[in-house]
Amino acid sequence: MARSSLEARSGLNIVVGITGGIAAYKTVSVIRTLVLAGHDVHVIATEAALRFVGMPTLEAISRNPVHTDLYEGVAQVRHVALGQAADLVLIAPATANTLAKIAAGMADDLLGNTILASNAPVVLAPAMHTEMWANKATAANVALLRERGFLFIGPAVGQLTGDDSGAGRLAEPDDIVAAALRAVISQDLRGKSIVISAGGTREALDPVRFIGNRSSGKQGVALAQAAAARGAAVTLVAANLEVPTPPSVSVLPVSSSAELQAAIQQAALSADVVIMAAAVSDYRPAAVAEGKIKKESQGDQLTLTLVKNPDVLAALVTSRRAGQTVIGFAAETETDSERLVQLGRDKVARKGCDYLVVNSVGWSAGFATDSNTVVILNGAGDIVGEAAGSKLSVAHRILDLLV
Ligand code: CTP
Repeated sequence: MARSSLEARSGLNIVVGITGGIAAYKTVSVIRTLVLAGHDVHVIATEAALRFVGMPTLEAISRNPVHTDLYEGVAQVRHVALGQAADLVLIAPATANTLAKIAAGMADDLLGNTILASNAPVVLAPAMHTEMWANKATAANVALLRERGFLFIGPAVGQLTGDDSGAGRLAEPDDIVAAALRAVISQDLRGKSIVISAGGTREALDPVRFIGNRSSGKQGVALAQAAAARGAAVTLVAANLEVPTPPSVSVLPVSSSAELQAAIQQAALSADVVIMAAAVSDYRPAAVAEGKIKKESQGDQLTLTLVKNPDVLAALVTSRRAGQTVIGFAAETETDSERLVQLGRDKVARKGCDYLVVNSVGWSAGFATDSNTVVILNGAGDIVGEAAGSKLSVAHRILDLLV
């Protein structure tokens, strides 16, 4: 039943089935994480599930109508359409009753029909009391479902709804998301350690002001998300991000270029791949004022003296360990594509990295947008890839070069 691995180049179409267990409230967080990661989530809630979590919450968080009734949308043949269109079906929580129904191939509600009509991988996150999980009927159903290719995440061992604890607790939301995405995204970076810098550095002028840049961190965060989804152990050196960090990524927050350099050099010691997606300040104020710089002491003009920062990327290249791949980014305002590539060639020669991802930035391009257009050069300056589209799809294209 499990469909062959699908390269998730951009958002997936995911059906999340919610059945009637107390842990249903945690599924709201699962849905939120999937939506924020760019996936299109369609919730099917059983009648019992809606006793535990409200329809308005599910609709607001999933950003789609919630489906409950087998007899709604009959004209669109809804009972099979949702399952046919899905790249992935996730059921959380899956109660003992739900497992029994799926094992028996029952289709007496919309969720049962959807599962039968889908060729997508189905990931089940069971939650129930320990006795119910250990019950021979449940164990036999689980064994049968595993044999048929259904994938399981959890249940975890821990505190249950009441004071009791044991096996049967719903797996943690981030673990459920990771397991679900693993079912559809090829794990071609498993075993690799990847360090990525993202965002823009800030150089302090005084306690309240800084010199910064317009990088939001979106492309670097998309790289971290894509690499983690493909099985890599990811460390994200995060400089003043304007976007949330993905789950399953270890985050090292930094602000200035000096902090970024210290963090990434340390993290690079054990990394297979280092990607410098952050926009690093080339200069910093020669002196940082102890107190706020006051107008009265400056008059009509303020002259700042800036000193050059070290080139973090070039230093990473020089100190890299054997076999480590180092990837840089180049942000250029050049609009002519040939001259843009030439600037990239000059830059890759200067920095000595293995790949350089060249993108065009400007007043309205590159920064803080959801899409990107890049040309990827190798160390010799040859074009080895081009990508245009969502920052997540561009991230996957860059990671393809590593594989
Ligand atoms: N970079 C760096 N340290 C710096 C400046 C940049 O590590 N002090 C890295 C960036 O993270 C990026 C690459 O070098 O991976 C290119 O950055 P970019 O700003 O395009 O180039 P610069 O080297 O700063 O050159 P210029 O600004 O003159 O184009």
